[in-house]
Amino acid sequence: MAKEQGKGMTEEKIRVFEARREALKSMGGEKMIAKQHDLGKMTARERLAMFYDEGTFQEVQLFVKHRSTLFGLDKKEINADGVIVGFGKVNGRTVFAAAQDFTSSGGSLGEMHSKKIWKIMDMALDAKKPFVSMNDSGGARIQEGVPALEGYGGIFYRNTIGSGYIPQITAIMGPTAGGAVYSPALTDWVFMVKKSSYMYITGPDVIKAVIGEEVTHDDLGGAVAHATKSGVCHFATENDTDCINRVKMLLSYLPDSCHSPQPIIACTDSADRDCPELDTIIPDRASRGYDMKQVVMAVADNNEIFEPHELWAKNMFVAFIRIMGQPVGVIANNPKFGAGVLDVNASDKASRFIRFCDAFNIPLLTFSDVPGYMPGTAQEWAGIISHGAKLLHAYAEATVPKITVVTRKDYGGAYIGMCSKQLGADYVMAWPSAEIAVMGAEGACNIVYRREINEAADPAAKRTELVAAYEEQFNNPYFAASMGIIEEVIAPRETRKRVAAILDALKDKTQVRLPKKHNNIPL
Ligand code: HXC
Repeated sequence: MAKEQGKGMTEEKIRVFEARREALKSMGGEKMIAKQHDLGKMTARERLAMFYDEGTFQEVQLFVKHRSTLFGLDKKEINADGVIVGFGKVNGRTVFAAAQDFTSSGGSLGEMHSKKIWKIMDMALDAKKPFVSMNDSGGARIQEGVPALEGYGGIFYRNTIGSGYIPQITAIMGPTAGGAVYSPALTDWVFMVKKSSYMYITGPDVIKAVIGEEVTHDDLGGAVAHATKSGVCHFATENDTDCINRVKMLLSYLPDSCHSPQPIIACTDSADRDCPELDTIIPDRASRGYDMKQVVMAVADNNEIFEPHELWAKNMFVAFIRIMGQPVGVIANNPKFGAGVLDVNASDKASRFIRFCDAFNIPLLTFSDVPGYMPGTAQEWAGIISHGAKLLHAYAEATVPKITVVTRKDYGGAYIGMCSKQLGADYVMAWPSAEIAVMGAEGACNIVYRREINEAADPAAKRTELVAAYEEQFNNPYFAASMGIIEEVIAPRETRKRVAAILDALKDKTQVRLPKKHNNIPL
């Protein structure tokens, strides 16, 4: 009899528990969920359901409640305190996540909301697995005050401690204002959803009041603004579904942590595949551009690339590809835009990408076609000296396999900057079209032979003659090859198979740098 009673009580407790759990899972309730949907946005729960493999998501700390009594919060229930945290499988691999839910008090971040995020970040760090944050929040919970600020501080701290240890990705899927923007900025990758997300330090109203400037939310801090103007956003996505799918795609290229093996997949492409289309890609006239993206696609497994920062600093192209199933980070000047010149933004874009890849043991493949650093007061005063130095620093400190292919122009300091031998490239190859020199022949002759040209009976003919001689000597890959400054001259069509063979040979490369606390990259 006593046993029967006990069983009955347990069942009742389980029924109550299940009802409580269901109530909490309803988050902000039907009305708020309908409002979220009307804005074209999913709820946090819907996003997580789409992100994780079916049935694998394990929610953590659903029952956490805020404990603030200020400004009426003692009477306010905020289900799950406005954020869902947990872990599960994404294409079979464990990933930890936090998703703020705008339907629950605007996804505002208070003390307990942030402690849930701390908890799941700590779990991700201990488990050495990626962390993904889906942000959709009105910011610091105004009623709670300072504990909310402390909450952000704890997230920033964990973002920083985890930097280079586990991949960290932020998907901005709603508002992100004020200091809340700094967690995304501290993570490795920022995705934004067009039209429904924005990020800024101060919003349009404050801007108007303080400096009189008028701007809309979207123009100021929307996905397109940050993907084209500031570079804060790496991926501007069409909607929540597109955003989640692309986060998953990115994860497929990344290891779980800096100590984890690479996610190598079965390759359906051939290591010996010729790329005949590359033999004709360099235009006849040196001043004409071509799309370096086509070169990279030709070389990549199944011609597939995954490109961050597609719309920002287009003169520099970076992308993840696979070679024989192994993820590879590609850095390439793109002569289609601004002749592939190196400027402040291009240097920043490439440097950060290089450092990410190196931190996570992803080999680097560089394609170089660069006329030099961008001249002019705008770039000098924007600090091209220190920004350009980042590129040198990032390449030189990287210890992963580093392969460089020079396709055409490779002049001066920019030649050194694009992963030259002395920055630690393991293997530099050049196409026959390569011009490895201190500068272009015209410019060089105008300086070195100024007097001879000016004093010649026919200055134009003299210049042509001297330029031809300079080109013969330097504007080709053979002078550099004869000195061992590059390893090999190859036919463009051979590029994929050479890269595949070198990557295979270097797959166990290890390099140890001097013992010290950390480098001091020129930021
Ligand atoms: C408390 C908030 C909130 C916040 C929104 N809500 N933001 N509650 N603190 N920061 C609540 C609203 O009161 C409302 O609650 C619900 O969320 C939905 O908000 P709405 O305003 O109705 O939504 P919408 O019209 O879509 O407007 C969204 C919004 C607006 C533009 C984001 O809510 C807004 O301006 N929020 C405040 C933004 C802000 O200034 N945040 C503080 C930044 S300071 P009910 O109960 O009515 O459903 C900051 C410092 C961080 O973040 C520093 C870190 C270092």
